[in-house]
Amino acid sequence: MDWSVFFRENLEPVQAYQPGLREEQIRQIAEVDTIYKLSSNESPWPPFPSALAALQEALVTLNEYPDGSAHQLTQLLSWHYDVPVEQIIVGNGSNELIDLIAQTCLKPGDNVVYGWPSFVVYRSSAQIAGAEYREVPLTADGSFDLNALLAAIDERTKIVAVCTPNNPTGGVISDAAFTEFLEKVPPQVLVIIDAAYEEFVDEAHAARPLAAFDGRRPYVVLRTFSKIYGLAGLRCGYGFAPAPLVEMVNKVREPFNVNTLAQVAAQACLEDDAELERRRVLNAEGRQRLQECFERLGLRYYPSQANFVWVEVADASATFDALLKKGIIVRPFPGACGLRVGVGDAQGVTATIAAFEELFGV
Ligand SMILES: Cc1ncc(COP(=O)(O)O)c(C=O)c1O
Repeated sequence: MDWSVFFRENLEPVQAYQPGLREEQIRQIAEVDTIYKLSSNESPWPPFPSALAALQEALVTLNEYPDGSAHQLTQLLSWHYDVPVEQIIVGNGSNELIDLIAQTCLKPGDNVVYGWPSFVVYRSSAQIAGAEYREVPLTADGSFDLNALLAAIDERTKIVAVCTPNNPTGGVISDAAFTEFLEKVPPQVLVIIDAAYEEFVDEAHAARPLAAFDGRRPYVVLRTFSKIYGLAGLRCGYGFAPAPLVEMVNKVREPFNVNTLAQVAAQACLEDDAELERRRVLNAEGRQRLQECFERLGLRYYPSQANFVWVEVADASATFDALLKKGIIVRPFPGACGLRVGVGDAQGVTATIAAFEELFGV
């Protein structure tokens, strides 16, 4: 049976997401009882207490479909960020929003420009839509090279995607460079800023993408509840986009794309700025400790503004295996000479530092 007759040809090169090792597989390899999963940029802490309480209350309503317009969540986001409701979209994770925008805007022959290495969904969403993609190397500090992105844009470019802080390097673009970039991007190119890790940023000169959002120009900012808010398992992302784009995405998306629990938990988190700040500080402390450790050990790393740090090691695969034995799960990238190390809670950071010291200490 030739199955290829059923499938769109452009799907051939798309790579399915490779899930990490399962808990029981890790337990077989690890030589310790305590495992720290630092491989998916998740929060090491449970959801906010306010979110857990809201979830408990919402469980009995699960016989009903979710609110397909995510009305209350959208209202709250509007109030919280001072952006009109017509310019807000919510999705089953910000991943879905990237896919939806690609499906809505891209056609064969278009191209998408973004930095690389970065979030793999920029590539897959372009491939699935049948568009081409152009991957532009990062700067020496692990952030998007905005001038190189501009140079890669041509008359077939429909989208330029910018990830700041960038996954997997943690680098941010500066406010000044970003302003200049926005002035130079051709008006027919949709700029998507993926700010999934924005809440972790504390660098004074880092770009704050929402400040440039005016609801008129083709400019979108995407955020998520998966990272600092600790709701990765529920899937809830949101974006700010001009109303015509929001309307079109609403036609393309599944009617009940954001489930009830995700909606209520997200609302609860948004109302708890104190917990958000507490987590931002804890992450920054852990990140600093990790970076100081890499510095001490003479390992090259990118200064990070996110909840992970990219560290260079001579043999990434051997280091990954050695860390796994010590119960530390980090993220390898095939062919790369480094690893992405998540910032755990205080204990997780201590365990990570101890493991690196054992492996690389003199
Ligand atoms: C840069 C970036 N953007 C978007 C996402 C998607 O996040 P989610 O779909 O959980 O909102 C991730 C997840 O790791 C990410 O690293």
